[in-house]
Amino acid sequence: MINRISEQELQKQKEYAARVRAAVQTAAFERGGPYKFCVVTYGCQQNEADSERLAGMLFDMGYEKADSEEDADIILVNTCAVREHAEKRALSVTGQYKHLKEKNPRLMIGVCGCMVSQEHRLDDIKFRYPYVDFAFGTSYLWQLPSIIYDRMKKKKRLFLLDTEDDGNIAEDLPVLRQCSYRAWLSVMYGCNNFCTYCVVPHVRGRERSRYKEDIIKEAKELVADGVKDITLLGQNVNSYGRGLYDDYGFPELLRDINEIDGDFTIRFMTSHPKDATKKLIDTMACCEKIAPQLHLPLQAGSDRVLQRMNRHYTLDSYKELVSYAREKIPGITLTSDIMVGFPGETEEDFEQTLKALTDIKYDMVYSFIYSRRKNTPAAEYEDQIPEDVKGERFRRMLEVQSDIGLKINEGYIGKTVRVLCDGESKNDPDTLSGRTDGGKNICFTGKCPAGEYTQVKVTAARPFVLMGEEI
Ligand code: 5AD
Ligand code: SF4
Repeated sequence: MINRISEQELQKQKEYAARVRAAVQTAAFERGGPYKFCVVTYGCQQNEADSERLAGMLFDMGYEKADSEEDADIILVNTCAVREHAEKRALSVTGQYKHLKEKNPRLMIGVCGCMVSQEHRLDDIKFRYPYVDFAFGTSYLWQLPSIIYDRMKKKKRLFLLDTEDDGNIAEDLPVLRQCSYRAWLSVMYGCNNFCTYCVVPHVRGRERSRYKEDIIKEAKELVADGVKDITLLGQNVNSYGRGLYDDYGFPELLRDINEIDGDFTIRFMTSHPKDATKKLIDTMACCEKIAPQLHLPLQAGSDRVLQRMNRHYTLDSYKELVSYAREKIPGITLTSDIMVGFPGETEEDFEQTLKALTDIKYDMVYSFIYSRRKNTPAAEYEDQIPEDVKGERFRRMLEVQSDIGLKINEGYIGKTVRVLCDGESKNDPDTLSGRTDGGKNICFTGKCPAGEYTQVKVTAARPFVLMGEEI
């Protein structure tokens, strides 16, 4: 069932990488300065993780990290296709690189990721962006060395479209992590759920799990490297192991990672409510390294809409699981994805979503306006919701959730929480920012260096962030 890329294939890529490295080093020597790369990322955590692998491969090929696109000799745009907005941004940014190429004729521009795993977008890039050197879908990521090599030698532009049987797993690619103490760890790729609005199964292919030995080995390496916070990634982590093992699933994997010696925290996302089980919650409750945090996307509060979304759960079954989680893991941080304006969503359906928010009381909600995606069933539904109605519902939802988030956060005032510090806050250089064990954002005064744990007393609350002082 599992398709791991063979050692021979990976070895071939290493040889291409060595050839590119030789060419890059020669060119850098002639120019009297290093060749540099820039990877621009859109979309989800899986894309962030992929970009760290793209960066790792580029570094391995002799490129150094550029401070910005302006001083790069190769730019990779790692795109997202989940919503139209993300595609438009990636296309517009790619458009702006044309003038960089005029300034630096050696510049190579590549577009990759979910957007160009769709034929129509790959064609857009090919025909409307003639200064783009190559584009390739998600399953070609590991072939970056041969792609660059071919472009260098053959001078031909390259456009590689994913096919249905693509999507093998490549182990042991080089990686250059953005952060020394937080890390992503993919446990599986792809998705089999085919929610009717979602393009992911079409662009990331069928679900496939990595071997547990490969995952545990990587987790051990991360911990040995000083990583304190590991987020396990998958579109639906709760179906980990399906088609690969009979009696080993995500809870078993969590237990095995929890067994690794060291002072670190385990998080994971995303859990599909139809596959999240009491066994998962029990495992979280008894494994001391697993963070008290659960991201469980509800999407909508109306069973009728959930059914049309092909989600395979009801609001009641969802709520039952949440109650169980709160009983077993008191103080657990609960977050969700909520979508408004799904085709056919009536005012009554939408009000059920608002009521679900008020009943469930999430710490935080990632909210989305439904975006019509080519080749998905919902795009063909006749009862599309007008943009102004979607916008109005979106604002009403934010308002409701903002009050709920604020009230929950106010409950933390006076309490002391453990925080992993991320250094200076982006908005205010006089304060530090970090995350609590439950994954909540916190801004605080103090002296803690980035990458260290500290204790912070919460003194104030906002809807999306706690405020405090180090003690
Ligand atoms: N439109 C809007 N939001 C979407 N999502 C997925 N597909 C779409 C779409 N077509 C949201 C879902 C998912 C999150 C990652 O993105 O809420 O959980
Ligand atoms: Fe998309 Fe549904 Fe798969 Fe999530 S579970 S990636 S929303 S199809």
